[in-house]
Parts: sequence; C-alpha cells; structure tokens
Amino acid sequence: MRLKGLNCVVTGGSSGIGAATVRRFVEEGAEVLIPDIDMEAADRVASELGDAVSAIKCDVRIEADVKAAAAIAYDRWEKVDVLVNNAGSELNRAYDEMTEDEWDRVLNTDLKGPWLMCKHFVPPMVKAGSGSVINISSLNGLVGFPLSTAYGGAKGGLVVFTRDMAIELAATGVRINCVCPGVIDTGMMERWTDLMPDKNEAKKMLKGTMPIGRMGTAEEVAGAIYFFASADSSLCQGSVLTVDGGFTAQ
Ligand SMILES: NC(=O)c1ccc[n+]([C@@H]2O[C@H](COP(=O)([O-])OP(=O)(O)OC[C@H]3O[C@@H](n4cnc5c(N)ncnc54)[C@H](O)[C@@H]3O)[C@@H](O)[C@H]2O)c1
Repeated sequence: MRLKGLNCVVTGGSSGIGAATVRRFVEEGAEVLIPDIDMEAADRVASELGDAVSAIKCDVRIEADVKAAAAIAYDRWEKVDVLVNNAGSELNRAYDEMTEDEWDRVLNTDLKGPWLMCKHFVPPMVKAGSGSVINISSLNGLVGFPLSTAYGGAKGGLVVFTRDMAIELAATGVRINCVCPGVIDTGMMERWTDLMPDKNEAKKMLKGTMPIGRMGTAEEVAGAIYFFASADSSLCQGSVLTVDGGFTAQ
C-alpha cells in the first residue's frame, strides 16, 4: 500500500495500460480519477474498482475539457499527487498519404494533451511543493519506424517535453518522468494488427521484434508507472525509462 492516501489522475484509464495502472494504484491504496473520452469503458473500470475510482468525460485535446477536469479534481481533493498522461491515439500512415485531420488527431492527443493536462493540473502541485507527473511516450518516440511520422513525432516530442518540464520544475518539488513502452498487448496493438493482411502473422512478427520473444503486458508497464508514482523514484527528474523487453538495448 505504497500510495495510501494519494490522489491520482490517469488519462485514458479506461483500457489497456491506463486501466492496468488504475488497478495497480488502487491496490496500492490510492484514489483515482479517470478523464477519458470512452465513458462506457471508463465507467466499467470505475464500477469494477468501487469507491476509490471515478471517471469523467474529458477529451485531452480540448482545453475547456481539461480545465473542467482540473476543476472537478481540485474541488474533490485538496491536492493531486500523481498525474499520468497516458491517453493516446495511434496512426500507421505514410507521411505523404496522411491527412491534416489525422496528423492533428495524433499530435493533439499524444503531445498537446499532456501539455494541456500539465498546464491545468501542475500549478497547484507546484504550490503544494510536491507531485509526480508521468508521461507515457513509446519506443516510437526513441527510434524510427516506417509509417510512424505523426505518432513517432508526437511521442518523441513528449520525451523532450518531459525533459524541458523537468528543468522548469526541478526546484519546485514536482517530479516529471517518462515511460517508453515497447510492444504491449492492448487494444492499440489489436487495432494495429487488424490493419495487417494476416493478423496472426503480424502478431508473430511483433513478438519476434522483441528480444525477449514476447509482447509486454499492460501490467508490466503499470509497474514502471507505479515506480515513478512512488517515493522510490524520488531522485528521478526528467528520466526516460524504456519498458520494451530489450528492443532499444540492441
Ligand atoms: N500498446 C502499445 O504497444 C504501446 C506502446 C507504446 C506506447 N503506448 C502508449 O501507451 C498509452 C496507452 O495505450 P494502450 O496501448 O493502453 O491503448 P488503448 O487504446 O487501450 O488506450 C488508450 C486510452 O486513451 C483514451 N483516449 C484516446 N484519445 C483520448 C482523448 N482525446 N482524450 C482522452 N482519452 C483518450 C482511450 O479511450 C483509451 O482509454 C498510449 O499513450 C500509447 O500511445 C502503447
């Protein structure tokens, strides 16, 4: 129960890595608020976990939604201790075939969203003199892949955004760090393999790209997120932790 008494916000906590993080945080004694666009799934997670979890409709691309989510959180709680910027949107498209709307959807969800969440949630943390922000980037934010300019551009931007924020916040007591998952078995991965001519072959190929020979689980990523949420990471500021079964070690 290392997060007992802590108030946590996990964007996109209704599925995959976000939902596993919400579950882990609750197991460790935290209360969690889930801002998400999928209210049906978010309410399912909240009702499964009882009073410790609630969900609110919030599109992280829209400043008015994020501002309203912050007002709800700070109305309910005196302070927010942990913010996980997990909500994400993927795209597999060649740079010259992508539409402007697709580019905007990915950049706005994966990069502008974390900035808006920081803008509205972090100043009260600074006032309180403590807090931990965890940005969920990706392997795609560290190395190049084909068909990944929007997603990789957003996730790479998030890595540098984390480092820039870490310097701005360094003297405030608020920590900000970044987790870069590898190939993780979630809905996002299902959608990606759905696009391939042979889904089973695509999954086999993905497992083969991971030196450990398998995909990661959402729970394994949640463990790394939990590390940054807990006091065990008190010296981490602007750290970028790969959770990728050895991919970037190659
Ligand atoms: N699955 C992987 O292999 C993998 C690898 C690296 C990084 N990631 C990152 O991990 C994070 C979680 O991904 P996942 O695999 O669990 O995917 P997922 O699709 O299961 O979850 C994404 C969540 O974000 C929410 N969401 C999407 N757009 C939103 C918006 N505009 N506002 C609020 N909520 C929104 C969805 O409703 C969903 O709950 C993402 O940032 C993703 O880019 C995933």
